[in-house]
Amino acid sequence: MVQLNDNYLKLKAGYLFPEIARRVKAFCEANPDAAPHVIRCGIGDVTEPLPPASIAAMHKALDEMGARETFRGYGPEQGHEFLRHAIARHDYRDRGIEIADDEIFVSDGSKCDCGNILDILGHGNRLGITDPVYPVYVDTNVMAGHTGEADASGAYAGIHYLPCVAANGFVPEVPAEPLDVVYLCFPNNPTGATASRAQLAAWVEYALANKTLLLFDAAYEAYISDPETPHSIYEIPGARECAIEFRSFSKNGGFTGTRCAFTVVPKTLLAATASGERKPLHPLWNRRMSTKFNGVSYIVQRGAEALYTPEGQAQVRGLIDHYMGNAAILRAAAKDAGLPVFGGVNAPYIWVGTPSGLSSWELFDRMLTQARVVITPGSGFGAKGEGYFRISAFNSRANAEEVARRIRAL
Ligand code: MLT
Repeated sequence: MVQLNDNYLKLKAGYLFPEIARRVKAFCEANPDAAPHVIRCGIGDVTEPLPPASIAAMHKALDEMGARETFRGYGPEQGHEFLRHAIARHDYRDRGIEIADDEIFVSDGSKCDCGNILDILGHGNRLGITDPVYPVYVDTNVMAGHTGEADASGAYAGIHYLPCVAANGFVPEVPAEPLDVVYLCFPNNPTGATASRAQLAAWVEYALANKTLLLFDAAYEAYISDPETPHSIYEIPGARECAIEFRSFSKNGGFTGTRCAFTVVPKTLLAATASGERKPLHPLWNRRMSTKFNGVSYIVQRGAEALYTPEGQAQVRGLIDHYMGNAAILRAAAKDAGLPVFGGVNAPYIWVGTPSGLSSWELFDRMLTQARVVITPGSGFGAKGEGYFRISAFNSRANAEEVARRIRAL
């Protein structure tokens, strides 16, 4: 008899964002008059059109695909050389960070890569995961059988939770005990917090001392405006020996629907075999990508490459400025409403304390039914997210202004 993967049965109700979508759909069906007025600030999905430089490059690439002389079939599973080179040069070497072209692996998304990376890691690793957290890190480990059951608070046995609370500025402290794999995300989803150079250096020092692998999600690095805040974990000396970095074109180039991202696996990064021998992870990830992936489409990779041209960079800057303008408007509204407000300065997410003892989901319901605004309940990101909600700044300016007006009026 066929067996299912029992680990899936340990997962809580539904993945957070489909669960929000389900509740919003139910509300809209029950209240058809209100439905057209609902504004979605829940999922962090971009709203603005793609940069013209990318559009032009993708049109050109599509024309190439339409002519026998320039047609292309399968590309390299790791990504086309032109894009790997553009990434390594512009995002790393031009900023004084030593990353080779072939340490870049182009993919269809950071969410996928964060889950897929588990393919090349063993099953006995002690896991450190922040709370609150982007749910993908937890759920993919549950699916892979790396945890026990969840308790009443939703915490899984086998995960060492690293609290991110107002008292520590939403940046986890380095733990006293050794962990084997630690997920870090800065600028943070959901809290919008950033980690300073000294805080990241403490994590790299810890990782080198304990032979820990840091899985560093930098999907929101383009939103950093503070010149002192690192954009990459590899700005910290020693990180090439202990970290994998995930980056995406979703939130800078607006590629959430176009799909293109990349993962950096330095060749100097080692992990232990079952017998304790230290071996590089790079060939394993290369093998994994060659076997299970056929690469991102040529057209999309040309679109991503164009983001690095001078016009592309200016257009990306315009997108970031637009969303951060929204963030400022939404932050100000939540402050005016007398709520504790965090994030939204170097990140497109605003992390807000719920008023008058309301739980995160109670606040979600109140915002939906009374203000017709969809937010993300903080408890959906972990137990330490209870008492908070997240507002996404990914929206049109008109919607951000209207949400601000409704928050003030509530
Ligand atoms: C979010 O809302 O947290 C993001 O959309 C997550 C993602 O990019 O997958």
